Amino acid sequence: MPNQQRVARSQELYRRAEALIPGRTQLISRRSSQFAHGHSPIYASRAKGARFIDADENEYIDWVNAVGAIILGHADAAVDGAVKAQIDRGSIYTLNSALEIELAELLNEVIPSAEMARYTKGGGEANAVAARIARGVTGRSLILFSGYHGWHDWYQSANYLVDPESGEFPFAGIEPIGVPEELAGTALPFVWGDLEGLRALLGAHEGRVAAIMMEPMRSELPPPGYLEGVRQLAREHGAVLIFDEVSCGFRPRIGGVQAYLGVRPDMTVLAKAMSNGYPMGAVVGSRAVMEPASRMFISSSYWSDNLGLVASLTTIRELERRHSAECFEAIGLSLIKRLNQALSDAGLAGACGGVFWNPSLQLELPDDSLRAVANTLFIQEMARRDIHCNMSFKATLAHSPEDIERTAQCAGEVFALIKGGLERGDLQSLLDSDLSQEPFRRLVR
Ligand SMILES: Cc1ncc(COP(=O)(O)O)c(C=O)c1O
Repeated sequence: MPNQQRVARSQELYRRAEALIPGRTQLISRRSSQFAHGHSPIYASRAKGARFIDADENEYIDWVNAVGAIILGHADAAVDGAVKAQIDRGSIYTLNSALEIELAELLNEVIPSAEMARYTKGGGEANAVAARIARGVTGRSLILFSGYHGWHDWYQSANYLVDPESGEFPFAGIEPIGVPEELAGTALPFVWGDLEGLRALLGAHEGRVAAIMMEPMRSELPPPGYLEGVRQLAREHGAVLIFDEVSCGFRPRIGGVQAYLGVRPDMTVLAKAMSNGYPMGAVVGSRAVMEPASRMFISSSYWSDNLGLVASLTTIRELERRHSAECFEAIGLSLIKRLNQALSDAGLAGACGGVFWNPSLQLELPDDSLRAVANTLFIQEMARRDIHCNMSFKATLAHSPEDIERTAQCAGEVFALIKGGLERGDLQSLLDSDLSQEPFRRLVR
């Protein structure tokens, strides 16, 4: 069956969405333009373990996993069982639930820098809470940031500082429409890995910086001493150091990158993987930084929802019980090894590298202008072979050696195809999808 037919129902739903939902999806990373439009599935009908079934009844191995939110595997029996039991007891009470305290105690145990916790229903929202607390506790306004921290005004206002079309950071191609221009200059980006740049920025804004907010890393380890240097600078300048571990948390260690690398921030933002797909976010931190939040207006009805709390408690306990760190290391290293082997067997230059919890694929191309075509072709051909991925891979504990083997085998076929296209100089002719687009440029590698 030609592939266009294969995802016909997905395509039809996507057309219907255009008239009903501005932007068609709720999360930019879910837009079809992020994959190989025309071949990649867009709508799913169900999911279990490491796989999902799309709206056209095709079954895929999933390496995207709700952009990292699924960590144990789709529809995990332990988490879903606990959530279903909680539904029978009440999804949200009139009164508070002791689950809030139980989860704060568990987070204190597993997250090295945690002494107190507040909850939200997502990552961007939790970052907005962290920004509010840091500003409130220091009495300062300016936030220096490095990474992606969500859709809220405090952060998106940084796009007024550059021409969005220039391709410069923070978010190439996204205009801050609807964000008050008066906020421009209240959040300033800094370049991850460049300690001297950060030192200079702090010097230029001496006494004004409330927080250094950063993703401590994504797919590459930070330069030696970098995070320790940032920690020291924050201390010297009286700024709150916030690690946004929404994307990097839980997989390297249950305690996140801070547990893996041994650098403690003052505050940590968590979401996504903490609840295996149920809406949940948290801000945890030292007592000194968190306690003053009791006098700030930080309040929302559904932050007391029991389902996210029970999902988080169960997910974290299951990660412990299943020895998640060792498993992610085994899965990630095996995927990296097999993809590198597939590259060399196909004779295609490139490498699969990065850390074990976020392997990423970089093809070496004669000309960088071919990158978008080569990457989209990879995604297209993997989709044709029932593998849903982009150029980096987020595993779950449900991914088996067979899933890795099948992925590597398919990747080998696709690498050979790309090599042929490059040799003939007609890579483009192999592509019958729209080019995959980068949604926004992140500041962290
Ligand atoms: C590091 C980081 N922070 C914040 C967010 C925003 O989280 P959410 O989409 O739950 O609002 C994301 C989402 O990708 C993220 O990767």
